Amino acid sequence: MKSLFSVAGKTVLITGGSRGIGAMLAEGFVRSGATVFISARKVGELEDCCARLAKLGDCRSLIADLSTTAGVQALVDAVAQHTDTLDVLINNAGASWGAPLDQFPESGWDKVMNLNLKSLFFLSQQLLPLLRRAARPEAYASIINISSVYALMHSPLNTYSYSASKAAVIALTRQLAADLQADHIKVNAIAPGYFPSAMTAPLDEQAMVAEIPAGRMGRLEDIAGTAIYLASTASDYMTGRTLALDGGILASR
Ligand SMILES: NC(=O)c1ccc[n+]([C@@H]2O[C@H](COP(=O)([O-])OP(=O)(O)OC[C@H]3O[C@@H](n4cnc5c(N)ncnc54)[C@H](OP(=O)(O)O)[C@@H]3O)[C@@H](O)[C@H]2O)c1
Repeated sequence: MKSLFSVAGKTVLITGGSRGIGAMLAEGFVRSGATVFISARKVGELEDCCARLAKLGDCRSLIADLSTTAGVQALVDAVAQHTDTLDVLINNAGASWGAPLDQFPESGWDKVMNLNLKSLFFLSQQLLPLLRRAARPEAYASIINISSVYALMHSPLNTYSYSASKAAVIALTRQLAADLQADHIKVNAIAPGYFPSAMTAPLDEQAMVAEIPAGRMGRLEDIAGTAIYLASTASDYMTGRTLALDGGILASR
């Protein structure tokens, strides 16, 4: 049973791994014995995070701007310089934009859709050769997409493009899952509730916690535990699903 949930020795790419949920995921996988590549745009924050995690295990950094398909291709090329197989891809990098409905700008639509949805699709597509090389019938390769509870409920923050992008990620997860089953690649998503990060820092923590039946924000163990399950052979019979990870927010509505 221990090896069923093991990710030791697996090669993992986590986009947006320099802080917040991505850094929590990276720490969980590094501590579990995986080789972890983290990517982000800001060099200082990325290198600091990588240096901290490299003390715990095997962590490497790759600078990448995923706001364009050229940036996606650059990350794919950088990954391919280090490894020719990839067991786990975690599409975590994301951005949000909130503005009143009548003033919501096109720039807030394009920025969010390009990063959260378009780049997620093309990064997954471009990394398929590496994922296919890692995938085996007895140990599937895994794509894990980070969605949001705002894909599944009304957002009080006027996050029109964000909510739509995260709902599209759920649809894309299901579509890719069916199409990649024959390749022994499973594709699942996690829809987090509220986790402490730069994205939630401007929000009122007390108000967020008041919405959560569990009475607390999400933690590293919560997100890493769920992702490790989705990355390990324990979940090889599950694909195309989205797991809400929200301390009961959706259950209570
Ligand atoms: N925190 C929550 O409560 C929560 C809830 C639901 C879903 N989520 C989702 O969880 C994921 C992580 O969010 P977070 O809260 O941890 O946010 P965060 O702290 O803002 O982290 C975002 C990460 O993505 C990277 N990133 C942003 N824009 C990028 C770009 N154009 N190219 C490449 N990397 C980029 C950031 O690094 P650079 O800025 O250096 O590029 C950073 O590493 C997102 O998909 C978010 O939608 C978060």
